[in-house]
Amino acid sequence: MKIVRTVAELREHVRAVRRAGGTVGLVPTMGALHRGHVSLIAASAQRTDSTVVSLFVNPRQFGDLGDLAGYPRTEEADAAKAAAAGAHVLFAPGVDEVYPDGYTAEVRLSGPLTETLEGAHRGPEHFHGVTTVVTKLFNMVGPDVAFFGAKDAQQVLVVRRLVRDLNLPVEIVVGETIREDDGLALSSRNVRLSPTDRAQALAIPRALEAATAELAAGETDAEVLTATVRRVLSRAALLPEYVAVVDPDTLQPRTTVDVPSLLALAVPVGPVRLIDNVVLVPAPQPALAGAPAGAAAPDATPEEG
Ligand code: PAF
Repeated sequence: MKIVRTVAELREHVRAVRRAGGTVGLVPTMGALHRGHVSLIAASAQRTDSTVVSLFVNPRQFGDLGDLAGYPRTEEADAAKAAAAGAHVLFAPGVDEVYPDGYTAEVRLSGPLTETLEGAHRGPEHFHGVTTVVTKLFNMVGPDVAFFGAKDAQQVLVVRRLVRDLNLPVEIVVGETIREDDGLALSSRNVRLSPTDRAQALAIPRALEAATAELAAGETDAEVLTATVRRVLSRAALLPEYVAVVDPDTLQPRTTVDVPSLLALAVPVGPVRLIDNVVLVPAPQPALAGAPAGAAAPDATPEEG
């Protein structure tokens, strides 16, 4: 695996792959690679002829300068993990390569996808930073396919909308959230949790599981489900920034989980802010007595595409 720091070197590699008729996959990362990233890199290596992993801690998506300064930087270990997972190039540019002196361009999406949940709490500038750097990475690499993780559910929706709105010629593939055996979702920020913080953070998967179990037991009221999540978190002395049940495509709030809905939350734990989510899938409605097999109950809402 080659490590490249300039767009010119990167393009040279991509041109050679294209000349040989190959396809290119991109896994955008901010480093501190964990098994979630590794599974995306492996998926890209399987799907495409050449996988580029970008490693760039994008200053434009951090409103909180403490979070930016404390973001783990472990390039050597990241390079070893990326290579072992099948990457061909690690693109690790400096800030000046991405945002040269006098840089002013920005790519922004507006509306609920960027202004609710993470956008409301981190500020919409967070997603403007993401859409700006992702557009630049797509332009620098020109990938056929790009891979993102489902833990950042809102980011996935934003990137998909970006691709649609700007007709970017790239397919977006989403990898499932990878969890530790005890349920904690993998995140680059987990390395900053002390053992006490980490034990406290386990309330997050427990809270999501409690809501999932409550739904399975028949509770579909979103307010009741989010109250359950808050209660489990509060027992571990965690105060979430938000707990929301929303439409998984539009992020509009849902009051009833009668169709698959996204339960998303953000919680400060120790020095970091963790996000997690789960898709709540209601049990199928029992068929009406005497109705032909497969007929829906009269008040069932059709599932959204
Ligand atoms: O998910 C991330 O790590 C970042 O938001 C991304 C997509 C690499 C853009 O900086």
